[in-house]
Amino acid sequence: MKVDDIITLKIEFLSLDGNGVGKHYEGKKFYSVFVAGTIPEETVRCRILAIKKLTGQAELIGILEASKSRKEAEKDEKLPGFDLVHIQYDKQLELKQKMVENVLRGLEVENVVASETKAYRDRTKLRLKKAGKKMNFGYLKNRSHDIVDVETCAFLNEGLNEAIRLLRDFFSKADKDLELSVELKLNHSNNKVICIFEGVSDKDFVEKMREFLDGNELFQNIVFLGEKVNGLNNEFVAEYVNNGTLLQSSFSSFTQVNIEINEKITAFIKQHIQPKKTESLLDLYCGIGNFSIPVGKFFAEVQGIDESESSIEDAKQNAKTNNVKNSNFSADSVENRLKDMKRKFDKIIMDPPRAGCENIVKQINKLGAKTIIYASCNPRTLVRDLKELKNYNVETVQPFDMFPYTRHIEVVVVLSKI
Ligand SMILES: C[S@@+](CC[C@H](N)C(=O)[O-])C[C@H]1O[C@@H](n2cnc3c(N)ncnc32)[C@H](O)[C@@H]1O
Repeated sequence: MKVDDIITLKIEFLSLDGNGVGKHYEGKKFYSVFVAGTIPEETVRCRILAIKKLTGQAELIGILEASKSRKEAEKDEKLPGFDLVHIQYDKQLELKQKMVENVLRGLEVENVVASETKAYRDRTKLRLKKAGKKMNFGYLKNRSHDIVDVETCAFLNEGLNEAIRLLRDFFSKADKDLELSVELKLNHSNNKVICIFEGVSDKDFVEKMREFLDGNELFQNIVFLGEKVNGLNNEFVAEYVNNGTLLQSSFSSFTQVNIEINEKITAFIKQHIQPKKTESLLDLYCGIGNFSIPVGKFFAEVQGIDESESSIEDAKQNAKTNNVKNSNFSADSVENRLKDMKRKFDKIIMDPPRAGCENIVKQINKLGAKTIIYASCNPRTLVRDLKELKNYNVETVQPFDMFPYTRHIEVVVVLSKI
């Protein structure tokens, strides 16, 4: 097999990258060939783009036998990051389940908890590049600096789509060249949108933008990040409810993108962690206390650690407003905090970023917790870290479809001390 060869391939499974994978035999050896836009059980024609050892990357050029689960993607679905728009939703759930089973080999995996499939996202980040009359405002293409225009995206909350329409109109009328990024975040308590701009240093533009956005009811706050534009109104909070608990966040704090699934994960954690009023809870990578405030209410003591200072400020405020007593939230890296930690905890929740927590997982073993709940958005690092949690048995593996129509999946694992 060589680059530019056109081959016929039977797709066997979906990789964690969202590509269909098939085997191409040459004598006894075979290449695993990855093709975006395909579905297991399909037979396709594809062109080889790159080869590395026994792995090939190919582009789809024709479908010889289509899956019954193939669907035509709409224009507002065909956007970077949404890799599974050609697959019906039921099938996506089945394939994501298999993806998790393949990675966590030997472990029993519960059925994936499904999500609303449209308008599920309540934050998004877009880029703008305007040079003369040519304007692109949308998402960055995978592994490229090209911007794919977004007029409306099926997976965004309606308020965010309306914000995109208004901003697009404003940018198109601006009389200068512009290059910036903007994050749009929904405040669930009033359905207004917060705009967080990065890369804006032109004060005149900031004033015009402020005038435009202030005059529109849809927008709650505007924030300009960056060293050159200071002294602007950066004060605001976005709010949402998680299992009956009102949580507030400031603009630079992490919040989950899918509020419906976030509620379901929190309910799952509460059910499996079995809180007791005599016990202590440690929440690693706690953010604004998204899990530890709703669940921590039912413990005697709660400690949370996150390296983001704004998140920890928010977590402290959230503990106060929700009357979560005996709570202690620290802005520090988990690595630093756990290095010399001598004390024990009864229960632990951990929700690291995609990289997982390889360098401190051995420390976590020593904290003596009866139950650990590990929430992960990356099955690859999850499986690596689980192997190191040697004092624990895996009790339950529950995937949640936090990100429908993308290749991503959230997996929550319940571990109990051996
Ligand atoms: C996936 S988010 C989870 C936040 C929270 N559990 C939630 O549900 O909203 C990961 C969090 O880890 C924090 N973080 C990343 N690396 C860290 C580190 N080395 N030490 C402490 N916190 C870290 C980030 O600031 C972020 O808030």
